[in-house]
Amino acid sequence: MTSHLIGTPGATGMVLTEHHDRLPTVAWCGVADPALTAGDLAALGPAGLSMLPEGSHVWYGRAGLSGHRGAGEPGAWSTRFTPASLRVTADGATCEASDKQAGLALLTQVQVVPGGLLRIRHTLTNTGATDYLLEALDVVIPVPEHAAESLDFTGRWARERIPQRRPITDGLWLRENRRGKTGHDAATVLVAGTPGFAFGAGQVWGVHVAWSGNHRHRLERVPLADGSASVTAIGGGELLLPGEVTLSPGASYATPWVYLGAADDGLDGLAARFHDYLRSLPAHPQGERPVTLNVWEAVYFDHRLPVLRELADRAAGIGVERFVLDDGWFGGRRHDRAGLGDWTVAPDVWPDGLAPICDHVHALGMQFGLWFEPEMVNPDSELFRAHPDWILATAGRRPPQERHQQILDLAQPQAYAHVLEQMTAVLSAHRIDYVKWDHNRDAVDAGSAVVDGRPGVHAQTAAFYRLLDNLQDRFPYVEWESCASGGGRIDLEVLQRAQRVWTSDQNDALARQAIQRWTTQLVAPEYLGAHVSAPRSHQSGRTLPLDFRAATALFGHFGIEWDLTAATAAELATLGRWIELYKTHRRLLHTGRTVRLDSAVTDAWVYGVVAPDRSSAVMAYVQLDELPREPPRFRIPGLSRTARYRAERIDPATRPAYELPSVLVSGAALGDIGLAGPPPAPLSSVVVLLTAQH
Ligand code: GLA
Repeated sequence: MTSHLIGTPGATGMVLTEHHDRLPTVAWCGVADPALTAGDLAALGPAGLSMLPEGSHVWYGRAGLSGHRGAGEPGAWSTRFTPASLRVTADGATCEASDKQAGLALLTQVQVVPGGLLRIRHTLTNTGATDYLLEALDVVIPVPEHAAESLDFTGRWARERIPQRRPITDGLWLRENRRGKTGHDAATVLVAGTPGFAFGAGQVWGVHVAWSGNHRHRLERVPLADGSASVTAIGGGELLLPGEVTLSPGASYATPWVYLGAADDGLDGLAARFHDYLRSLPAHPQGERPVTLNVWEAVYFDHRLPVLRELADRAAGIGVERFVLDDGWFGGRRHDRAGLGDWTVAPDVWPDGLAPICDHVHALGMQFGLWFEPEMVNPDSELFRAHPDWILATAGRRPPQERHQQILDLAQPQAYAHVLEQMTAVLSAHRIDYVKWDHNRDAVDAGSAVVDGRPGVHAQTAAFYRLLDNLQDRFPYVEWESCASGGGRIDLEVLQRAQRVWTSDQNDALARQAIQRWTTQLVAPEYLGAHVSAPRSHQSGRTLPLDFRAATALFGHFGIEWDLTAATAAELATLGRWIELYKTHRRLLHTGRTVRLDSAVTDAWVYGVVAPDRSSAVMAYVQLDELPREPPRFRIPGLSRTARYRAERIDPATRPAYELPSVLVSGAALGDIGLAGPPPAPLSSVVVLLTAQH
């Protein structure tokens, strides 16, 4: 038996053991340490598991592959793959295998990707003479048994990424998504770790299924049949609906990439791997993230040129760099019951087209952005009246409506061409620098005429990527935001194409704090659209101080979503100072490592960003509520222990008053002892810049 270490030292690695009669098994996975050799693994012989567990090797857990052939062909429902080749290079491993009796071939690719992650996918090919009905194909990775606690996420509209933790016990923890998009309640990252793992401590293993349609994450602990051990495994894949993928002879199906990260330094270490990976992508946003004004909560559907011009003037006056015209500019879209699907400028509200606002915005030196919801159609639209059969539907019935809309079946070539050409016409007619791409309903009962009324979500998800790719080819200078009623389409496959995500429709800064804190478990802060709202939140009805709202937005891609024509001169001046602060520090905020302090105090949070070379950091001490007792100290994790730092308050807030020591303090002292905590002040944030002195 030969074993191979896949991965670079200090980053996520796995030891793959070759077998002549079965798929390679993962003997170990974690942070690769050159001291831990493949020979050690061979000597110790831990229970391994292949990335496609098979019942035929006495595995009583969930199989990696589920599928079958038609009546009269009983083979193929249970497989026993034999490897034909295993190629291992510095960049990963590729294994080819086949099960001749089942008539199936399997290709498994493991890639070492920047940031210290591995990504894995299977491709299954039907080499038999009849159709193979595929039900599930998952990538599965065993983790050490001392990973005894798990974390994943759930959520809902305006409250995305709620963490949920539980002890790992025997059985299956299955997070399935059937919404036809990534989902507000997506598991996002499924983590297994040593008990009590925290932001800054513990060994953790995390998986993310990079897919913007139906998908699943899974965690399973299974006692081995001989009683020698239990195996804990994490993984996932696309969730296929009944009959959704049938492989005809010669056809193949590839799973989404499943990303695997391991870290010995807690959730922040794991987040850093995802962030570093995102920062290596060609699609990663280039240059400084422009301060953005989105007009949605300022005007909603009430588009009037004089008001929008004034909004633009005020925005430019305080330093805004991008102006985004949201929903309501097209077709009959004067409210949310009509118009989706008709991507032509509405002459009743924009008699001279979009040029008057677009040119005005450009003349003010700002970029111009525009909202689309390309995959959607209102029954009250020209499109639907002409082509009622272009929606995803089953058995001739119309799916229950959500937000008065249906989903355009992009797998139908004419429907696809319609939306591609209408969007192309709008993007060609105006200088549009930015598109906010929305997706406001879930897929239910979503059959496609293209596949005889069978489930159409897989084809729709693939068509969504294709449509976005097509538009990117045509308009390579445009930036794209992924939005789905807020943060409903955030995953690493859409981020191969998007430069921003709309983190949440929740613009109440207090509720936003938690959403951003946990969305950074996967996504780097420069992607996270974060807007300063009106004083009184449209979602919660709560009134929050401007400084608190702005301090919350500072740690994402800073923007505004507020009717600035209703803001006072004093408010505009304050907002202007926050914008200046953001511009001064955005380079650091968007290139550094995200750190979140572990603390027993639930209503005072410390978090921020440390430069990769640890020469500087921007850290916030946020008081969410009345503190239960005296303020905890302002400990700053992640600095160089030996460097000495100058600490300086940089935010323009006046509350609370807070003095910092004028002397230099070591990173060790700042991390272990910390600055004195700012005085009690609920709904406040103190932002401190730390600069190492030589
Ligand atoms: C969704 C988005 C919002 C806004 C509206 C427009 O809810 O998340 O930001 O664009 O649609 O209808």
